[in-house]
Amino acid sequence: MELGIVGTGSMGSMLTRTWCASETVPRVHVCNRTLEKAERLAALYPCHVHVHESVAELARVADWIFLCVKPQDARDLLPIVGQTISSHGLVITTNSAIGLAELEASLPCAAVKLIPSVTQEVRTGALLIMTGKRVTDEQEASLFSLLSSLGQPVRIPEEQLRVYSDMSSCGPAFLADWLLMFAAAAARRGVPEDVARHLLEHMVQGVGKLSASGYTLSDIVQRVAVPGGVTSEGLRILHEHQGDTFDALLAATERRQREHQQSAPHR
Ligand SMILES: NC(=O)c1ccc[n+]([C@@H]2O[C@H](COP(=O)([O-])OP(=O)(O)OC[C@H]3O[C@@H](n4cnc5c(N)ncnc54)[C@H](OP(=O)(O)O)[C@@H]3O)[C@@H](O)[C@H]2O)c1
Repeated sequence: MELGIVGTGSMGSMLTRTWCASETVPRVHVCNRTLEKAERLAALYPCHVHVHESVAELARVADWIFLCVKPQDARDLLPIVGQTISSHGLVITTNSAIGLAELEASLPCAAVKLIPSVTQEVRTGALLIMTGKRVTDEQEASLFSLLSSLGQPVRIPEEQLRVYSDMSSCGPAFLADWLLMFAAAAARRGVPEDVARHLLEHMVQGVGKLSASGYTLSDIVQRVAVPGGVTSEGLRILHEHQGDTFDALLAATERRQREHQQSAPHR
Protein backbone atom coordinates (compact mmCIF):
# COMPACT_ATOMS: atom_id res chain seq x y z
CA MET A 1 0.00 0.00 0.00
CA GLU A 2 1.32 3.43 -0.98
CA LEU A 3 1.01 6.28 1.56
CA GLY A 4 0.71 9.90 0.51
CA ILE A 5 1.09 12.99 2.68
CA VAL A 6 -0.28 16.31 1.48
CA GLY A 7 1.21 19.20 3.47
CA THR A 8 4.67 18.82 4.94
CA GLY A 9 4.18 21.35 7.73
CA SER A 10 4.27 20.47 11.40
CA MET A 11 2.01 17.38 11.28
CA GLY A 12 2.82 16.06 7.79
CA SER A 13 6.57 16.29 8.30
CA MET A 14 6.30 14.70 11.75
CA LEU A 15 4.40 11.70 10.34
CA THR A 16 6.83 11.38 7.42
CA ARG A 17 9.99 11.69 9.55
CA THR A 18 8.75 9.25 12.17
CA TRP A 19 7.72 6.59 9.64
CA CYS A 20 10.94 6.97 7.67
CA ALA A 21 13.24 7.01 10.71
CA SER A 22 11.57 3.92 12.15
CA GLU A 23 11.44 2.23 8.72
CA THR A 24 7.76 1.48 9.34
CA VAL A 25 6.93 1.95 5.67
CA PRO A 26 9.16 1.56 2.61
CA ARG A 27 7.98 4.75 0.90
CA VAL A 28 6.09 7.94 1.60
CA HIS A 29 4.81 10.15 -1.24
CA VAL A 30 4.69 13.81 -0.25
CA CYS A 31 3.69 17.12 -1.73
CA ASN A 32 3.52 20.62 -0.35
CA ARG A 33 2.32 23.98 -1.65
CA THR A 34 5.85 25.36 -1.17
CA LEU A 35 7.72 22.63 -2.99
CA GLU A 36 11.13 23.38 -1.42
CA LYS A 37 9.74 22.39 1.99
CA ALA A 38 8.86 18.91 0.69
CA GLU A 39 12.24 18.68 -1.04
CA ARG A 40 14.08 19.56 2.19
CA LEU A 41 12.19 16.74 3.92
CA ALA A 42 13.00 14.31 1.11
CA ALA A 43 16.69 15.22 1.37
CA LEU A 44 16.67 13.79 4.91
CA TYR A 45 15.29 10.41 3.74
CA PRO A 46 16.15 10.15 0.04
CA CYS A 47 15.46 6.41 -0.09
CA HIS A 48 12.00 6.72 1.43
CA VAL A 49 10.45 10.05 0.44
CA HIS A 50 9.15 10.70 -3.07
CA VAL A 51 8.22 14.31 -3.80
CA HIS A 52 5.31 15.11 -6.12
CA GLU A 53 4.74 18.50 -7.66
CA SER A 54 0.98 18.46 -7.28
CA VAL A 55 -1.74 16.85 -5.23
CA ALA A 56 -3.27 15.38 -8.40
CA GLU A 57 0.05 13.70 -9.22
CA LEU A 58 0.35 12.31 -5.68
CA ALA A 59 -3.27 11.11 -5.70
CA ARG A 60 -2.54 8.99 -8.78
CA VAL A 61 -0.03 6.82 -6.87
CA ALA A 62 -1.16 6.91 -3.24
CA ASP A 63 -3.79 4.48 -1.91
CA TRP A 64 -4.10 6.29 1.40
CA ILE A 65 -3.80 10.07 1.51
CA PHE A 66 -3.11 11.99 4.70
CA LEU A 67 -4.37 15.57 4.30
CA CYS A 68 -2.20 17.49 6.77
CA VAL A 69 -3.32 20.98 5.80
CA LYS A 70 -5.49 23.66 7.38
CA PRO A 71 -9.28 23.22 6.99
CA GLN A 72 -9.72 25.82 4.23
CA ASP A 73 -6.92 24.22 2.21
CA ALA A 74 -8.35 20.74 2.80
CA ARG A 75 -11.75 21.82 1.46
CA ASP A 76 -10.09 23.21 -1.66
CA LEU A 77 -8.16 19.95 -2.16
CA LEU A 78 -11.03 17.49 -1.64
CA PRO A 79 -12.35 17.76 -5.24
CA ILE A 80 -8.83 17.16 -6.63
CA VAL A 81 -8.28 14.13 -4.43
CA GLY A 82 -11.83 12.91 -5.04
CA GLN A 83 -11.35 12.93 -8.81
CA THR A 84 -8.39 10.56 -8.66
CA ILE A 85 -8.48 8.36 -5.57
CA SER A 86 -10.02 4.90 -5.99
CA SER A 87 -13.18 3.90 -4.15
CA HIS A 88 -11.01 1.43 -2.18
CA GLY A 89 -8.72 4.23 -1.04
CA LEU A 90 -8.72 6.12 2.23
CA VAL A 91 -8.44 9.83 2.99
CA ILE A 92 -7.25 10.71 6.46
CA THR A 93 -7.39 14.30 7.58
CA THR A 94 -5.60 15.73 10.61
CA ASN A 95 -7.84 18.72 10.96
CA SER A 96 -10.72 18.78 13.35
CA ALA A 97 -12.96 21.30 11.60
CA ILE A 98 -14.25 19.17 8.70
CA GLY A 99 -16.86 16.59 9.63
CA LEU A 100 -16.70 12.95 8.54
CA ALA A 101 -20.07 13.24 6.80
CA GLU A 102 -18.82 16.22 4.75
CA LEU A 103 -15.61 14.36 3.91
CA GLU A 104 -17.32 11.21 2.72
CA ALA A 105 -19.89 13.25 0.77
CA SER A 106 -17.02 14.89 -1.16
CA LEU A 107 -15.09 11.69 -1.83
CA PRO A 108 -15.68 8.35 -3.59
CA CYS A 109 -13.84 6.52 -0.78
CA ALA A 110 -13.80 6.17 2.99
CA ALA A 111 -12.56 8.92 5.30
CA VAL A 112 -10.96 9.13 8.71
CA LYS A 113 -10.21 12.00 11.04
CA LEU A 114 -6.92 11.65 12.86
CA ILE A 115 -5.76 14.05 15.55
CA PRO A 116 -2.11 13.46 16.27
CA SER A 117 -0.04 15.13 18.96
CA VAL A 118 3.43 16.60 19.02
CA THR A 119 4.32 13.69 21.34
CA GLN A 120 4.45 11.44 18.26
CA GLU A 121 7.83 13.08 17.54
CA VAL A 122 9.07 10.61 20.17
CA ARG A 123 6.63 7.88 19.12
CA THR A 124 4.39 8.12 22.14
CA GLY A 125 1.10 9.71 23.21
CA ALA A 126 -2.43 9.16 21.93
CA LEU A 127 -3.60 9.50 18.31
CA LEU A 128 -7.32 10.22 18.23
CA ILE A 129 -9.25 8.41 15.51
CA MET A 130 -12.75 8.91 14.15
CA THR A 131 -13.85 6.69 11.29
CA GLY A 132 -16.40 7.42 8.59
CA LYS A 133 -19.29 5.11 7.70
CA ARG A 134 -17.48 3.63 4.68
CA VAL A 135 -14.34 2.54 6.55
CA THR A 136 -14.09 -1.26 6.44
CA ASP A 137 -12.93 -3.43 9.34
CA GLU A 138 -9.86 -4.33 7.31
CA GLN A 139 -8.97 -0.66 6.67
CA GLU A 140 -9.50 0.17 10.32
CA ALA A 141 -7.27 -2.70 11.47
CA SER A 142 -4.50 -1.67 9.00
CA LEU A 143 -4.76 1.95 10.08
CA PHE A 144 -4.51 1.07 13.78
CA SER A 145 -1.51 -1.12 13.02
CA LEU A 146 0.21 1.67 11.02
CA LEU A 147 -0.48 4.27 13.69
CA SER A 148 0.70 2.00 16.51
CA SER A 149 4.20 2.70 15.23
CA LEU A 150 3.68 6.33 16.30
CA GLY A 151 1.87 6.01 19.62
CA GLN A 152 -1.40 4.78 21.01
CA PRO A 153 -4.36 5.02 18.59
CA VAL A 154 -7.59 5.72 20.47
CA ARG A 155 -11.02 5.66 18.83
CA ILE A 156 -13.23 8.54 19.96
CA PRO A 157 -16.75 9.81 19.18
CA GLU A 158 -16.62 12.66 16.65
CA GLU A 159 -19.07 14.80 18.63
CA GLN A 160 -16.61 14.89 21.56
CA LEU A 161 -13.55 15.65 19.49
CA ARG A 162 -12.91 19.04 21.16
CA VAL A 163 -12.56 17.79 24.72
CA TYR A 164 -10.51 14.72 23.71
CA SER A 165 -8.29 16.87 21.52
CA ASP A 166 -7.75 19.42 24.30
CA MET A 167 -6.33 16.62 26.44
CA SER A 168 -4.15 14.75 24.00
CA SER A 169 -3.25 17.28 21.31
CA CYS A 170 -3.36 20.67 23.07
CA GLY A 171 -2.43 19.03 26.38
CA PRO A 172 1.36 19.16 25.84
CA ALA A 173 1.14 22.96 25.41
CA PHE A 174 -1.17 23.36 28.42
CA LEU A 175 1.10 21.28 30.63
CA ALA A 176 4.31 22.95 29.42
CA ASP A 177 2.86 26.44 29.88
CA TRP A 178 1.63 25.56 33.37
CA LEU A 179 5.17 24.45 34.24
CA LEU A 180 6.56 27.71 32.83
CA MET A 181 4.26 29.56 35.25
CA PHE A 182 5.66 27.37 38.04
CA ALA A 183 9.22 28.30 36.96
CA ALA A 184 8.31 31.99 36.91
CA ALA A 185 6.98 31.72 40.48
CA ALA A 186 10.21 30.01 41.57
CA ALA A 187 12.17 32.82 39.86
CA ARG A 188 10.24 35.37 41.92
CA ARG A 189 11.63 33.52 44.96
CA GLY A 190 15.21 33.88 43.73
CA VAL A 191 15.80 30.69 41.71
CA PRO A 192 17.39 31.60 38.33
CA GLU A 193 14.56 31.06 35.83
CA ASP A 194 16.65 28.91 33.47
CA VAL A 195 17.58 26.66 36.41
CA ALA A 196 13.91 26.41 37.42
CA ARG A 197 12.87 25.49 33.85
CA HIS A 198 15.65 22.93 33.58
CA LEU A 199 14.65 21.31 36.85
CA LEU A 200 10.98 21.17 35.87
CA GLU A 201 11.88 19.67 32.48
CA HIS A 202 13.70 16.87 34.27
CA MET A 203 10.82 16.49 36.69
CA VAL A 204 8.29 16.07 33.86
CA GLN A 205 10.56 13.56 32.10
CA GLY A 206 10.60 11.56 35.33
CA VAL A 207 6.82 11.72 35.63
CA GLY A 208 6.53 10.49 32.04
CA LYS A 209 8.77 7.53 32.77
CA LEU A 210 6.87 6.69 35.96
CA SER A 211 3.64 6.78 34.00
CA ALA A 212 5.13 4.58 31.26
CA SER A 213 6.25 2.12 33.94
CA GLY A 214 2.66 1.68 35.16
CA TYR A 215 2.06 4.45 37.70
CA THR A 216 -1.34 6.10 37.26
CA LEU A 217 -1.67 9.84 37.83
CA SER A 218 -3.41 9.11 41.15
CA ASP A 219 -0.56 6.76 42.16
CA ILE A 220 1.92 9.59 41.61
CA VAL A 221 -0.10 12.02 43.73
CA GLN A 222 -0.43 9.45 46.51
CA ARG A 223 3.23 8.49 46.37
CA VAL A 224 4.40 12.10 46.85
CA ALA A 225 1.73 13.63 49.07
CA VAL A 226 1.98 12.51 52.69
CA PRO A 227 -1.22 13.53 54.53
CA GLY A 228 -0.57 16.75 56.46
CA GLY A 229 2.79 17.28 54.71
CA VAL A 230 3.97 20.15 52.53
CA THR A 231 2.90 18.53 49.22
CA SER A 232 -0.61 18.06 50.60
CA GLU A 233 -0.66 21.74 51.56
CA GLY A 234 0.45 22.65 48.04
CA LEU A 235 -2.27 20.41 46.57
CA ARG A 236 -4.86 22.13 48.77
CA ILE A 237 -3.84 25.48 47.23
CA LEU A 238 -3.94 24.04 43.72
CA HIS A 239 -7.50 22.81 44.21
CA GLU A 240 -8.54 26.08 45.87
CA HIS A 241 -7.11 28.29 43.11
CA GLN A 242 -7.32 26.07 40.06
CA GLY A 243 -10.17 23.67 40.79
CA ASP A 244 -12.33 25.01 37.97
CA THR A 245 -9.52 26.11 35.62
CA PHE A 246 -10.03 23.16 33.30
CA ASP A 247 -13.80 23.65 33.13
CA ALA A 248 -13.13 27.23 32.00
CA LEU A 249 -10.44 26.06 29.59
CA LEU A 250 -12.67 23.41 27.99
CA ALA A 251 -15.53 25.89 27.68
CA ALA A 252 -13.19 28.46 26.07
CA THR A 253 -11.71 26.10 23.48
CA GLU A 254 -15.18 24.85 22.59
CA ARG A 255 -16.35 28.45 22.15
CA ARG A 256 -13.34 29.32 19.97
CA GLN A 257 -13.90 26.28 17.77
CA ARG A 258 -17.57 27.26 17.31
CA GLU A 259 -16.50 30.81 16.35
CA HIS A 260 -14.10 29.41 13.75
CA GLN A 261 -16.81 27.20 12.30
CA GLN A 262 -19.37 30.05 12.23
CA SER A 263 -17.00 32.62 10.72
CA ALA A 264 -15.96 30.32 7.85
CA PRO A 265 -18.55 27.56 7.55
CA HIS A 266 -17.44 26.50 4.08
CA ARG A 267 -13.77 27.42 4.16
N1 LIG B 1 0.32 21.23 14.94
C1 LIG B 1 -0.31 20.38 15.76
O1 LIG B 1 0.13 20.07 16.89
C2 LIG B 1 -1.62 19.72 15.31
C3 LIG B 1 -2.15 18.66 16.06
C4 LIG B 1 -3.32 18.03 15.61
C5 LIG B 1 -3.95 18.49 14.46
N2 LIG B 1 -3.43 19.55 13.76
C6 LIG B 1 -4.15 19.98 12.56
O2 LIG B 1 -3.47 19.48 11.40
C7 LIG B 1 -3.62 20.41 10.30
C8 LIG B 1 -2.23 20.79 9.82
O3 LIG B 1 -1.57 21.42 10.91
P1 LIG B 1 -0.03 21.79 10.87
O4 LIG B 1 0.29 22.29 12.25
O5 LIG B 1 0.76 20.67 10.30
O6 LIG B 1 -0.08 23.02 9.84
P2 LIG B 1 1.15 23.68 9.05
O7 LIG B 1 2.43 23.50 9.80
O8 LIG B 1 0.71 25.06 8.68
O9 LIG B 1 1.26 22.80 7.72
C9 LIG B 1 0.31 22.87 6.69
C10 LIG B 1 1.05 22.56 5.42
O10 LIG B 1 0.09 22.42 4.39
C11 LIG B 1 0.69 22.94 3.20
N3 LIG B 1 -0.36 23.25 2.22
C12 LIG B 1 -1.35 24.17 2.28
N4 LIG B 1 -2.10 24.13 1.18
C13 LIG B 1 -1.59 23.16 0.39
C14 LIG B 1 -1.93 22.66 -0.89
N5 LIG B 1 -2.94 23.16 -1.59
N6 LIG B 1 -1.19 21.64 -1.40
C15 LIG B 1 -0.14 21.14 -0.72
N7 LIG B 1 0.24 21.59 0.50
C16 LIG B 1 -0.48 22.59 1.05
C17 LIG B 1 1.41 24.17 3.68
O11 LIG B 1 2.37 24.57 2.72
P3 LIG B 1 3.22 25.93 2.80
O12 LIG B 1 4.60 25.48 3.13
O13 LIG B 1 3.13 26.53 1.44
O14 LIG B 1 2.60 26.80 3.85
C18 LIG B 1 2.01 23.67 4.99
O15 LIG B 1 3.30 23.12 4.83
C19 LIG B 1 -4.40 21.61 10.84
O16 LIG B 1 -5.76 21.51 10.50
C20 LIG B 1 -4.21 21.50 12.35
O17 LIG B 1 -5.29 22.06 13.06
C21 LIG B 1 -2.26 20.16 14.13
